[in-house]
Amino acid sequence: MATELLDIQSAALADIATAADLAALDSLRVGLIGRSGKISVFGEQIKNVPKEDRPAFGKLLNETRTAVTTALETRQSELTAQRDAQAVSSIDVTLPTCIQPAPGALHPVSQLQDRVIQIFRRLGFAMADGPDIDDEWHCFDALNTPADHPARNETDTYYLPDGRLLRTQTSTVQIRAMEAQPPPLRVICPGAAYRRDEVDATHLNQFNQIEGLYVAENVSLADLKGTLEYFLRELLGASTEVRFRPHFFPFTEPSFEVDARLPGTSKWLELAGCGMVDPAVFESVNARRGDHAFDPEKFTGFAFGFGLDRLTMLLTGTTDIRSLVENDLRYLQQFRP
Ligand code: DAH
Repeated sequence: MATELLDIQSAALADIATAADLAALDSLRVGLIGRSGKISVFGEQIKNVPKEDRPAFGKLLNETRTAVTTALETRQSELTAQRDAQAVSSIDVTLPTCIQPAPGALHPVSQLQDRVIQIFRRLGFAMADGPDIDDEWHCFDALNTPADHPARNETDTYYLPDGRLLRTQTSTVQIRAMEAQPPPLRVICPGAAYRRDEVDATHLNQFNQIEGLYVAENVSLADLKGTLEYFLRELLGASTEVRFRPHFFPFTEPSFEVDARLPGTSKWLELAGCGMVDPAVFESVNARRGDHAFDPEKFTGFAFGFGLDRLTMLLTGTTDIRSLVENDLRYLQQFRP
């Protein structure tokens, strides 16, 4: 019996040492020490062994089991190491890495937005914020825009089923800022606005604006002109020409469009809308606030708003506005600072 067991053991050790791969090794393990493996089955004979020989038989069986288990483990680590070495053998670790992680950069519109914010911060304007989804009251009514105004039309505005809408202008934030804080206040609000425009080389249906509002005692049209002229010359160059053309906006009176002519160019560019805050806007805010904080007899203010996308195009020489949102790295990488 002992010789039989030793034979099984030496055959097993030989098989294990030459097992070709991990799968072959696993079937050897099952065939030897699995539940109905050769060695396990052999051990069941212990019940036929005379009582006095049982301890010796048991000891021999354990030694065989240990020898086989150790051999299985040794071969397993050899085969695992071989498999891993093969997996990486085709990788040349001496090659230089080809993916050079490049530092990210701000989008050209964000870069311009940052410059604009910096200039207005120097003039004492704080940042204000409002939701992209707003109600009609903040977008139109409070801004003195009557129910029959074309901007309120379904074909011009994205309405939600609950009656709210994607704001068509950042002017909503004028109202929200005045609801939140009594005068004096001086804020700018950069943000997205949305209109149902057909997307083409000069139109996007989501675009970026910067809104400004200054309310205090004795704010005059001269302050408005001075502020915007200073801003545009800081942004576009000291010898930029600026002109104000009378225009109409429901929430300012008088209202203007602002044009600029860059040094050395002949074309006037339309950049912003602006004006003196209409007293009706103050009254809407007061009604909502439930006080008379924005007393039109005591306070005056100016407001302005301009788009950042076309200005970005102008300053970067971009000819199709869609380049700003297509996320094409060949375009964007040109504006890495
Ligand atoms: N909200 C206007 C627009 O989107 C721009 C504008 C005009 C903003 C006059 C103002 C303003 O604050 O006073 O066309």
